[in-house]
This record gives sequence, structure tokens and C-alpha cells, in this order.
Amino acid sequence: MSAGYEAIDCAPPGRTTPAVNARIGDGVLSAVGATPLVRLTRLFGDSRARFHAKLESLNPGGSMKDRSAMGMVLGAIERGELIPNQSTVVESSSGNLGIGLAQVCRWFGLRFICVADPKMTAQNLAILAAYGAELDIVREPDNEMGDFLSARIRRVRELVHDIPHAFWPNQYANPLNARAQETIMQEVVRQLDGNVDYLFVATGTCGTIHGCARFVADHGLGTHIVAVDAEGSAIFGEPSCRRLIPGHGAAIRSELYYDGIAHSVARMTDQDCVVGCRRLVGVEAILGGGSSGAVVSAVAQRLAEIPAGANCVLLLPDRGERYLDTIYSDVWVEERFGDIAHLWKEQTTC
Ligand SMILES: Cc1ncc(COP(=O)(O)O)c(C=O)c1O
Repeated sequence: MSAGYEAIDCAPPGRTTPAVNARIGDGVLSAVGATPLVRLTRLFGDSRARFHAKLESLNPGGSMKDRSAMGMVLGAIERGELIPNQSTVVESSSGNLGIGLAQVCRWFGLRFICVADPKMTAQNLAILAAYGAELDIVREPDNEMGDFLSARIRRVRELVHDIPHAFWPNQYANPLNARAQETIMQEVVRQLDGNVDYLFVATGTCGTIHGCARFVADHGLGTHIVAVDAEGSAIFGEPSCRRLIPGHGAAIRSELYYDGIAHSVARMTDQDCVVGCRRLVGVEAILGGGSSGAVVSAVAQRLAEIPAGANCVLLLPDRGERYLDTIYSDVWVEERFGDIAHLWKEQTTC
């Protein structure tokens, strides 16, 4: 058992000063964080280790990025860089961070412009619009692989330059992105009475893994952190190439990355994501997003090296509803990967 976990303060993400706390009150943002940890007893039946899933989909905006969005916006309000009912937030995102920002900006009466690209799903566009976010779509990709990140960042800079009182959270470099995610590890350590032997974390901006790794280091915990990256992602030094499943992986290495951020790296393919998601819902009845599938497949790949009795935490970043047209569409899967249903069907009897 790790010393000192009793003393760990479980403050919700981003809650800082009494003034900021008063603004959150008991409204929707008070429900960010404190997500459940459930036992996975079926997926890895041959192993004698214990597996736990942190259900980040149960944040009110639907993902773990609610924490980052809240942390970065509250930090800027506190520094006076953002004024509720007056300023504009501009950020590049096609997914969960954009939705988290749309939620927190709506709460504080902030205009939010989300810079996205044509790869954004119709569902995410509709969610952002429902929160009242404005969409600014970049059309020209950076390269023939269809990356849009540099083009989107250029557009963010232009907007921030042109709009008075505009603020760019800059999720790829903002330390508060990582700081907010420390609360995930804080909660997990409490939920498991200090015994966390393995943590499997999907990585993109590296905000989440950075926050968790920092918490582990600061509290002298012995947790082995596995970064779950995408095949074709540039985060750990490989060349970037085309990927289908959004969420984890990145075409650039973020400023929140540092050498040694993870003890080991698992690079998962798009097919691994699909198989992991289908097993997760088929056996544990958890409808997870693409990176949750990557995490499940990464654990399956490592099973032989995880000792009996070890406590393993699988951080499941978001929910599957946002992937119904892709990962959970039999037609979409068969068109891209062929007939692979046998890879999960044999595992889906309970
Ligand atoms: C579904 C999903 N998984 C994984 C990640 C990666 O998290 P991070 O950017 O904190 O590294 C994200 C980031 O937005 C995400 O939306």
C-alpha cells in the first residue's frame, strides 16, 4: 500500500479560489470528476490480476476532457484573462475537448469558437452546435496524409489576433490541461486504497498521462504507467501516418510530453480499437469509445506480464455513442477490416 493516500485531497478539477467555486456552485460543472471505478471480472478471464475501469464517460460532457476544459477555463478566469459574459474562447478540437469547452463556456456565458476540420463527425458538430458553440472549419490539410493540425492551429492564431478579448487555451501546451487530469489519479488512488500497480492511459495531447504521471511521482507511488498510443501517431517518435479512429494518437508531439512520461508504450492499430470496443461491450456491457477499445486491447496484449493479484486500472476516456457510425457499425467495420467478427464473437459469452 502506498503511504499517505489518506491525506490526498480530492478537490474537483479546476476548483481553486472561493470566488471560482462560488461561480460553479452546485450546477452542472460540479458534476465534473468523481467518476466511478468498476471491476472488470469477465474480459480477462485467464488472468489472476484485478482489473478496474474508470468510467470517464460519466462526466457530464461525456469524457475525461471535461476536466481539462474546466481546468483551463477556470484558470484563465482566475488570472483575469477571461471575463465571463464578455470574452471569446478559441480552440482547435474535433472531439471531446471541444465539447468540454462548449459546456464550460456555455455555463460562463463565454463565446466559443471551435476550429475543426472536415473529418469531424456530424454528431460532434451537432453536439457543439447544441451547446451554442460556433464552428470554424479549416478545409486545406497539411499534407497528403490528411492531417489538419497545423492548419487548424494557424487558424486559431488568426482568430485570436483578430478578435478582441480572445483566449486560446492551447491544450497542447497548457500546464492546466495536465494539472486538471491529476484529479483522475487522485480519485483512483483513493478508490483503490492506494494500491494501483498498473495504469493504462490513452494519449493524445499527453495532458492526461502527464497529470497522472506527475501525481504518481509526487506521491511516490509504484504504479507502472502504460501509454496507449495509436499506430501512426508521432507522440513517441514514430512517423505520423493515416489513422481512422479519433481521440488518442497525435500528428505532433505536444509540449506536455517529456521523456519518461510512461514506463512503457503500447501502440494499437485501428483494428485493435474496434476489437477492444466490441469485446468490452459484448462481455462487460460497457459501450466505450475508440480509445477505450485501444486500452482494452493493450491490456490483453500484456496479460502474460501482469502478475497475479496486481491492481490494474483501465482509464476509459469516453462513451461509444459517438462511434455508432464507425466502430459499432458492422458495415463500416467490414468495409475497412474485412470479416473480423470472429475476433470478438468467441469472447462474448458471459
Ligand atoms: C477519446 C479520447 N481518448 C484519448 C484522448 C487523449 O487524451 P490526452 O489529450 O489527455 O492525451 C482524448 C483526448 O481528447 C480523447 O478524446
